[in-house]
Amino acid sequence: MTKQLSDKVALITGGGSGIGRATAVLFAQEGARVAVADLNPDSAAETVQMITAGDGQAFHFQADVSQAADVQAMVGEVVARYGRLDCAFNNAGIEGSPVRTMDVDEADFDRIIAVNLKGVWLCMKYELEQMLAQGGGAIVNTASVAGLVGAHSMPAYAASKHGVVGLTRTTAVEYARKGIRVNAICPSFVQTPLVERAFAALPGLEQGVLNANPSRRLAAAEEIARAVLWLCSDAASFTNGAALTIDGGFTAQ
Ligand SMILES: NC(=O)c1ccc[n+]([C@@H]2O[C@H](COP(=O)([O-])OP(=O)(O)OC[C@H]3O[C@@H](n4cnc5c(N)ncnc54)[C@H](O)[C@@H]3O)[C@@H](O)[C@H]2O)c1
Repeated sequence: MTKQLSDKVALITGGGSGIGRATAVLFAQEGARVAVADLNPDSAAETVQMITAGDGQAFHFQADVSQAADVQAMVGEVVARYGRLDCAFNNAGIEGSPVRTMDVDEADFDRIIAVNLKGVWLCMKYELEQMLAQGGGAIVNTASVAGLVGAHSMPAYAASKHGVVGLTRTTAVEYARKGIRVNAICPSFVQTPLVERAFAALPGLEQGVLNANPSRRLAAAEEIARAVLWLCSDAASFTNGAALTIDGGFTAQ
């Protein structure tokens, strides 16, 4: 069977853990050469080992997506190694402490916006430059259901993810005739280290999350990865500017 990303080059931020790792592994299985970028070089290197152990091709790169110099160097390294950039999954993100709007620490607010929102913009800024030069590409940004509806005790996070949805739609409109598609994914709670931290920080959250979801379960990271694969593949050739919910029906209620 033909692989869905044969001959494609993919860049994944936050590729050292959770959704990013599951997507990096799946992309490599589907034939892509994968750049695994993360703030944490050890976890990114582990993802690369998982890929190369399965005969895939990948390298890791340490980058803080909130820093323009890091992001520029990251995209530059992908092109230097693999010659092009077909698929970019701008996924790195942080959750912050669970507190209500009035109690958010200013530095925490700034950091969440810097990583989750400015980071996505910076990634697209340099990815678009390369994709325009080569004549096309597909970008997927990680938003959240918290980019579509309010998220109790996560004000900065919800603001950042609503921003990602707006940025995605705007960029999609701007580059639609240049062969570049830009979409966002909006998952509900996914079983990853990020969610394990959130559940540990807020007793009762896990049961509340399960009760609130019509499917009464979390998503597996692989279920999110499969949606990202589809959005990056040619099968999604007319899907542009979407904010795709992958939420077990949560926002349909
Ligand atoms: N897990 C969920 O329930 C869920 C739901 C909706 C959206 N999301 C979003 O999915 C994305 C991935 O989340 P996850 O659950 O896999 O989390 P995770 O914590 O397991 O993985 C996130 C990765 O991003 C990296 N990272 C953090 N800050 C970075 C930075 N400044 N530069 C580069 N890398 C950085 C971390 O080192 C980590 O490896 C995030 O954007 C998150 O907001 C997660």
